[in-house]
Amino acid sequence: MRIGILSSGGDCPGINATIRGVGKTALTHFGMDVIGIKSGFQGLLNKEYILLDDESLSGLLNLGGTILGTSREKPFKKLRDGSEGENPQIIIDNYKKLGLDCLVCIGGNGTQKTAYKVSQLGLNVISIPKTIDNDVWGTDTAFGFHTAVDIATEAIDRLHSTASSHKRVMVIELMGHKTGWLALYAGMAGGADVILLPELGFNIEKVNKAIQNRVLKGKPYSIVVMGEGLTIDNQKRLSASYISQLIEEGTGIETRTTILGYVQRGGSPSAFDRNLATRLGGHATEMISKGKFGQMICLVNDEIQSIPLSEVYGKLKSVNPDHDLIIQGKRMGISFGV
Ligand code: F6P
Repeated sequence: MRIGILSSGGDCPGINATIRGVGKTALTHFGMDVIGIKSGFQGLLNKEYILLDDESLSGLLNLGGTILGTSREKPFKKLRDGSEGENPQIIIDNYKKLGLDCLVCIGGNGTQKTAYKVSQLGLNVISIPKTIDNDVWGTDTAFGFHTAVDIATEAIDRLHSTASSHKRVMVIELMGHKTGWLALYAGMAGGADVILLPELGFNIEKVNKAIQNRVLKGKPYSIVVMGEGLTIDNQKRLSASYISQLIEEGTGIETRTTILGYVQRGGSPSAFDRNLATRLGGHATEMISKGKFGQMICLVNDEIQSIPLSEVYGKLKSVNPDHDLIIQGKRMGISFGV
């Protein structure tokens, strides 16, 4: 059998570990051929690929980014005339020209949707969830998230000393797209005083009161962590500098802004993500050997399972307002701005 692997969407630590997990399992255990398709679905449309062998799969476990490159190419996007154009047929033709028996798509929500559409063309597809946002429905977590939480937590830890030295409020914006998983997990791990989640919204008066209450308790500084998807009534996204301005105006305390940005997607994966990537990749290859396609490999209660792509695509996994970390945080006096 011959497997084609591609990585699509935002990069993150663990993609190369996943490529390694699929590739080494396929070559060593199942005697399959493996090719790496370049730049996500762009490479499938343009037939850009490399052969993957033991040499090219070596040294990937701890390597950030993706050796295949990635893109946000959406091959099924509608054209002006409302059609999908020639891309679907090009995908079918190239899948056959490359001699593939299965396409493994590594990616987040957009990739899951495209993978489903490719499977609807009658092609064999397995997808593997990848994202620092942790917003892929159907899996407890995706690789990339754990590493990003570690990176963001370390950044938040470092903000405490400068905030207390200057008696300032430090607002840090974390990634997460439309969800607050990164802000919640890193905010709680980093000892934030205020955590603002897109799923909950916020009331600036309550935020400012929480900060002023800390001053009254002898803590004239605060750490505010916000998800980048924070909006006013689910409309316009709010910038961290705007939130900082509202806090400084409302409390009279000097407030500074940090946007952590792409640092959260860089560098080597954590040990947890390396092992998750290895497990997801290996099980994907086992599914292929059994001829089970049209599935997303997922982690459920620490077990690797699979879920039909038809049940995943188009869905978003948001933070539940009753999440245990929110309940525990509120009980400890952490403000969620609501
Ligand atoms: O999905 C991962 C992510 O980093 C989001 O958290 C962020 O909003 C988005 O990608 C940034 O997209 P781009 O890499 O295209 O700038």
